Amino acid sequence: MAILKSKLGKIITSIAVVIVLLFGVVGYVGWYNLFREVPSEVYKSPEDHFKYGSIGTEQAQGVPYWIWLVLPRIFPDKLPGPGGYTSLGITWEEGKELPVGFAKKTIGFPRVGITCAVCHHTTYRENLKDKPTIIAAGPANKFDSQGYIRFLSNAASDPRFEPDYILDEIKYSHEFPWWENLLYRFVIIPQTKKGLLQQKADFAWTDSRPNWGPGRIDPFNPVKFTTLKLPKDDTIGNSDMMPLWNEKQHQNFALHWDGLETSLRETVQTGAIGDGATKESLPVEDLQRVEDYISELPPPKYPFAVDQQLATQGKAIFNNTCASCHAFGGERTGKVIPVEEVGTDRHRLDMWTQQAADTYNKFGDGYSWDFSQLRKTNGYVSVSLDGLWLRAPYLHNGSVPSLQDLLEKPENRPQSFYRGFDVYDQKKVGFISEGEEAQRVGFKYDINVPGNSNQGHIYGTDLPTKDKQALVEYLKTL
Ligand code: HEC
Ligand code: HEC
Repeated sequence: MAILKSKLGKIITSIAVVIVLLFGVVGYVGWYNLFREVPSEVYKSPEDHFKYGSIGTEQAQGVPYWIWLVLPRIFPDKLPGPGGYTSLGITWEEGKELPVGFAKKTIGFPRVGITCAVCHHTTYRENLKDKPTIIAAGPANKFDSQGYIRFLSNAASDPRFEPDYILDEIKYSHEFPWWENLLYRFVIIPQTKKGLLQQKADFAWTDSRPNWGPGRIDPFNPVKFTTLKLPKDDTIGNSDMMPLWNEKQHQNFALHWDGLETSLRETVQTGAIGDGATKESLPVEDLQRVEDYISELPPPKYPFAVDQQLATQGKAIFNNTCASCHAFGGERTGKVIPVEEVGTDRHRLDMWTQQAADTYNKFGDGYSWDFSQLRKTNGYVSVSLDGLWLRAPYLHNGSVPSLQDLLEKPENRPQSFYRGFDVYDQKKVGFISEGEEAQRVGFKYDINVPGNSNQGHIYGTDLPTKDKQALVEYLKTL
């Protein structure tokens, strides 16, 4: 009896060991393929780091690389045109694995997340036939961020977003070993669908508000509603992307269109949080590299001809009419100008609240990074105008297509025009915003839509035509 018992005991122990081992192997394979975090790729060039280096969004918001790659092939009907992701104004540099502003990071499996550059890079062309020149850290003029989010949501809502369709399509690009195939079929694809549908629910509030269009986002309502979990309100925060170059020269300037931040470090870190980095995944050192890069990066020079003599005349006019608010060292440069004084559309300003600032300032309590400089203001910042030629359309809501138009009284500025076309208009100084081609690729911007008003900022609109011409010539050189 005793012998039998001990034999049985041995058998049970061996079975238990086998089970533990089996679970261990399955557990390890599961952990390895779902959660193992591989350090982000280190880019030697600070520009490549800015364009392609992870900012920590992949953990929570990353789309599995292989799924991301095949979605445009499965759902071309959900994109605005041919060309896959590029139809959403996404820029693909020749020879690169991912477009500008996208990072690949392996957490269990390779995932794709966005980087700062997706909204902070500009492209321009002299002629339609030219290849676009890419300027890192410029304000994105083509990227339709809302279109991208909606594409992913619409794909996830489609019955074809299921393992058979997706794995079938992936097969053309990549062969999974059988266990990965199983993981994709039973875990990764269903979880991705769930995650994208959650994102769709998180952004449902955008359906009842004006579309952002290319080059614009509502930057802080997603933070208010999703990150800070504040109650939904009916504000419209649609605003133009901003350039990030030359930040060292902007020291002590208020940041963001309404000056809701005063610390560059916090602005960089909140940028990453706003894009989907979590408290745990915020890569402080990688973001420090981004901050160093944008601090030293010079603004791009105007690449076309400038009439130097005319520009010199324009400088004198600038000094008289604009410098107090816009020249480096100007009395009010980089400061918040009350909205009643500048007179531009106030929706963006009203979107940010004292409550949101207070809540965000408590967000990082207990972490090595922390926020304390968020605030509520009463106007818009008189931004420095470096690299101005590439910042069109102008004003915080991008309501004025060119510098020539900005020097017209609001009633004489275009009432509607097309945004998102990157061929440059050297005469008006901005991007071409009308005509067949602009209309074909562009988004119709109507100044009568809430948040889109082109009122205000009437400085210089009374100048004689000759002076305006000289001023615009000078503005090209900033
Ligand atoms: C989804 C688009 C998007 C992404 C991604 C993004 N930003 Fe921005 N960023 C904006 C917009 C739009 C503004 C202007 C918002 C406003 O104030 O209304 C802005 C403003 C800024 C400003 C203020 C500039 C100034 O001179 O006042 C800084 C600095 C900045 N972003 C840094 C970053 C960094 C660093 C990252 C990456 C960690 C990042 N952003 C990612 C859209 C984006
Ligand atoms: C009293 C201060 C003040 C004066 C004077 C002033 N501006 Fe401005 N400017 C502002 C403010 C504030 C903004 C941001 C307003 C907004 O976007 O709603 C701005 C925005 C701009 C922009 C848009 C920048 C961008 O990136 O889109 C341009 C261009 C500009 N100003 C040019 C000029 C010129 C040229 C003059 C002189 C004829 C001038 N400003 C005079 C305060 C001023």
